[in-house]
Order: sequence, then structure tokens, then C-alpha cells
Amino acid sequence: VIEYTWRGHIGNGELNVLHAEAFGHRVLDDDWESQLSRHSLGWVCARDGADLAGFVNVAWDGGVHAFILDTIVAASARHQGVGTRLVAMAADHARDAGCEWLHVDFEGDLIPFYFDHCGFRPTNAGLIALPPPS
Ligand SMILES: CC(C)(COP(=O)(O)OP(=O)(O)OC[C@H]1O[C@@H](n2cnc3c(N)ncnc32)[C@H](O)[C@@H]1OP(=O)(O)O)[C@@H](O)C(=O)NCCC(=O)NCCS
Repeated sequence: VIEYTWRGHIGNGELNVLHAEAFGHRVLDDDWESQLSRHSLGWVCARDGADLAGFVNVAWDGGVHAFILDTIVAASARHQGVGTRLVAMAADHARDAGCEWLHVDFEGDLIPFYFDHCGFRPTNAGLIALPPPS
């Protein structure tokens, strides 16, 4: 049985491993614990026993806009509704915090997930890559 928690404890190591698996990069050494506690409205963890099975980060403007980032589900737990449930819980908690809008952006292959299953509707959005100054 998968259990979901809002702002539950999450270790840097386990999240770095899950992130690397989800996005196909080497395991990084990011300090998620301080990043999340300092900058996020919250995050949702899905756990299968002690194992981290999924995660989504909810960034916030301090007002009525929240933005989900890094929706990830362990490969072994996919296609069981975990991702949809993570996003639904993120939306519930953002609403409880006074947010009126939940934003996301994603690549085209995830349209069925975000539009058909999570309930987002299409909008215009924009993005600028900001490479570090040389
Ligand atoms: C995207 C992701 C979080 C979905 O997690 P999940 O737990 O498998 O999602 P759900 O089980 O709730 O999916 C519900 C439905 O959404 C659609 N869906 C899910 N993942 C999809 C994908 N990768 N591509 C297209 N449609 C997808 C399917 O219709 C799915 O129903 P099905 O299982 O009957 O096929 C997971 O595939 C993942 O971690 N991917 C790698 C990281 C990533 O790209 N994250 C998104 C960043 S914006």
C-alpha cells in the first residue's frame, strides 16, 4: 500500500536517486532538504513501506499561484495512479494554502497524463533558458 504525505521527511540521498532514475542522469548531490524547506510551499512524498516511490515539489509565489515541479514516480511503481494522486494532493494543499491557480509545464508526450488524468487545461506559457554567466 502506497502512503502519501504532505511535507513529509525526505532524505537527500533517496530523492537524488529517484530524480536520476526519472530523468536519466547521473545521481547528483543536490541538497533537497534545505531547498524544499526554504523555498517550497510544500511537497508530496509517496512511500511504499520505507521506500520513496514518488515525489512532487510545489513552488509558490507567496500569493495565489503555485507551480508543480519534478513530478516523479519510481519506474517500479508507474501506471498505478501514483503520479495522478501526487498531483491531486499537491492541488488540495495548494488550495488549502490560499492558492487559486496551479501551474505546470511539461513536454508533449505527457499531455495524456497532465490533461486527461490530472485535470490541467491548456494555456500559453513561455520559457527562457538562463545559462550561467561566462
Ligand atoms: C510522468 C509520471 C510521473 C507518471 O507517473 P505514474 O504514476 O505512472 O502516473 P499514473 O499512473 O497516475 O498515470 C495515469 C495515466 O496518465 C498517462 N501517463 C502516465 N505516464 C505517462 C507518460 N510517461 N506518457 C504518457 N502518458 C502517461 C497514462 O494514460 C496513465 O494511464 P495508464 O497507466 O492506464 O497508461 C512518471 O511516468 C514519471 O516519473 N516519469 C519520469 C519523470 C517525468 O517525466 N516527470 C514529469 C516531469 S514534468
